Order: sequence, then structure tokens, then C-alpha cells
Amino acid sequence: MNDHRSVHPALLRFPPERLRAYVRAIWEHAGSTPREAELVADHLVASNLAGHDSHGVGMIPRYAASARANQLQLNRHAQVVRDVGAVLTIDGGLGFGQVIAYEAMELGIERAKKLGVCAVGLRNAHHIGRIGHWAEQCARAGFVSFHFVNVAGDPLVAPFGGTDRRIGTNPFCAAFPRDGAPPLLLDFATSAVAYGKTRVAYNQRKPVPEGALIDHAGKPTVDPAVMQMPPFGSLLPAGGAASGHKGYGLAVICELFGGALNGGYTTHADTLQKTPAIVNGMLSVIVDPRAFDAMGAQQEADAFVEWVKASPVADGVAQVQMPGEPERRNRVERETNGVPVDAETWRQIRDAACELGMSADEAARWAEGTG
Ligand SMILES: NC(=O)c1ccc[n+]([C@@H]2O[C@H](COP(=O)([O-])OP(=O)(O)OC[C@H]3O[C@@H](n4cnc5c(N)ncnc54)[C@H](O)[C@@H]3O)[C@@H](O)[C@H]2O)c1
Repeated sequence: MNDHRSVHPALLRFPPERLRAYVRAIWEHAGSTPREAELVADHLVASNLAGHDSHGVGMIPRYAASARANQLQLNRHAQVVRDVGAVLTIDGGLGFGQVIAYEAMELGIERAKKLGVCAVGLRNAHHIGRIGHWAEQCARAGFVSFHFVNVAGDPLVAPFGGTDRRIGTNPFCAAFPRDGAPPLLLDFATSAVAYGKTRVAYNQRKPVPEGALIDHAGKPTVDPAVMQMPPFGSLLPAGGAASGHKGYGLAVICELFGGALNGGYTTHADTLQKTPAIVNGMLSVIVDPRAFDAMGAQQEADAFVEWVKASPVADGVAQVQMPGEPERRNRVERETNGVPVDAETWRQIRDAACELGMSADEAARWAEGTG
């Protein structure tokens, strides 16, 4: 580690409802409608509950900085700019991704109900956060979906074989809803770890796993500080040295589907983001499983899951899990024991609340648990 953060800071635990109320209050002070504040709070706290603290309430300081820079626009709605039946192009106008993506999915689900399928090309949304949230929205309505996302103009990941940051952490997500069981839900950044996880590791004074980062000179490192302060290093693509071409290749496809196909923009010298905004584009394909001639689809899925999970486990592994299971386990544990937030992140959120218009007294009351 190249700094003096040697003491492991305490993790505080908060009941999810209290976190939601605090987040709602912050954004209502900033000027969001109650509905917008609610969608933002639900999304951020749901990310924490799923175990993805990288996309939870710790994002608030970044959103606050983006709003102050007049990038993040409050109270915007998804605008359909082209409608050709099974293909919708939607512009987010840099509105809250938590609102824009929610509305875009609602429009896509309605259209897929009529036509069996809808491809939603969403562009210019402010950060749409944990993509699994949007696949879950589709799955709750009974729809299969897959999502290719770009992080426009915000390169953090080195291309396979390269040594500097050229590509966003471009997540891919897909969900398969099941009868009487939770959906199978795959949702990951195409980088070795999500950028936000390096922020959380930095705030918690922990190293990141080996194979996830290189420093500014292209040398492997486990120090998350290389993503937080100059000279900046890069994330590596998912797959590491043995198969990083796979994470890299999927990131390229996410960039083109999420940033070019929908009339948005990709990352290159002319589009580099110079503000705290995070701009996402997303291609979502929403499919009605009932539209196929496949009466046995659920039984086939069940049989496959049973078969896979019966694999004898490797040393140190409790059980084979399906995609989506770790998030469900985290949800159960955190609903019961509270959402962990480190003291540094908690302090940053309180500072952001004040910058967004909350009085110091009120922010202190929320932070102390008496808000
Ligand atoms: N909006 C953006 O710009 C943006 C950018 C990057 C990432 N993200 C989000 O960041 C979040 C975190 O991404 P990540 O790459 O750190 O996720 P991750 O590495 O934790 O991988 C998560 C996926 O792998 C599955 N998984 C994890 N462990 C498993 C196991 N032992 N067995 C079976 N399946 C397992 C999970 O169910 C999930 O589908 C995601 O929700 C992603 O959407 C968003």
C-alpha cells in the first residue's frame, strides 16, 4: 500500500429502512420529487442489500458532485425519441439513472407484452447503478432480459494486452425468471472487479484481489490507491492473464451495443468525461418466454440447475451456487443484521447531504441515527 491507511476502520450497520429514509431526505433536500427520491433510495439500498456496496449509498457523494457540476439533472424522465414497434430509442437527458432506467424498462416491458420482444436502446442516462436491478424489474414482470451497458467516456480498464485505461467497466447482465423460484441472474462488470469495489476497498483500507489492477507503469498491484490518486493505474479485464480476452471482448460488445447502436456515444479521445458525471448507455432486450414454443422451458431449467448444483464441491467451498444466489444470501443476512457502511463512507455521505441542502443539524441527526 502506498499510503498511511494501516488501521482497518469500523463497519457500522444500519437497518435498510433507515438508510432508505436518509437517502430520500437527502435527494428531497436537493430538489428531487418524492417519487424520484424514493426510486433513488430504493435502488441504492437494494444494491447494498445485494452485497454490491460499490453501487449502494456510497455513490451519493459522486452523484452530489455531478449535480453540483450541473451534470446530473434532477426530475428528468425517459424520452422516447424513436418508436418503431419492437425497437425503442430512449434518451435519458442525464437524468437520474434510477428513474430513467426504471421508466425505460417499464416501456420495454409494456411493448414486449404486445409484441413478444422489445429492444430498448437507452442513451445519455446518468449512472444507472446495479444493472441486476433492471433485470429483476423485467423478471418480476415474467420477462427474460439481457443488458449490454457502456460507461461512456470514462475509461478505467486496460484492453487485453494494453497497459493504460481505454474502456469503461461496461457491465453485462442477463436474467431468466423461474416459476416458484427466484430468477437466475447474472450481472457483472467486464473488468476483473467493479471500479466501485476499488473505492470501497480504499475506504476500508483493504487490498484488492490479485489480477485485478495494474499501476501507471502497467505493473500488477493489489493497492486500490492506484485507482484513487495519480499517477493512475487501470483495472484489468475480467478473466485475468489466462482469459482476459473474454472479458475484454465482452466489454467491446457492451461499448458498441450500449454506446453506438442507440445513438449515444462510445469512449474515445473526443468524448473523455471531464466532470464527475457517470454516463451510461444500455441496450436491453426484453423477451416474453411465453412467445416461444417451449412448454417445458421451466422443467429444463430446473433439471439443469439441479444437475449443476450436484457437482462435488472443491476444497473450502460450501456449495455450488447459481448466478444470483450470492446476492440473495446477502439480502437475507443484511435484512436481518443491517447494511454495513464504513465510517469514511458514512462521513462522505453526511458531507454530501449538507452540500445538497440539508442543514448540518439535520445531517448530524441522520448520521447519528436520530433523524
Ligand atoms: N452502471 C455502471 O456503470 C456499472 C459499471 C460496472 C459495474 N456495475 C455493477 O456493479 C455490480 C458489481 O459487479 P461485479 O463485477 O463486481 O460483480 P461480481 O464480481 O460480484 O459478480 C457478480 C455476478 O457473479 C455471480 N456470482 C458471484 N459469485 C458467485 C459464485 N460463487 N457462484 C456463482 N455465481 C456467482 C453473481 O450472482 C452475479 O451474477 C454489478 O451489479 C454491475 O451491474 C455497474
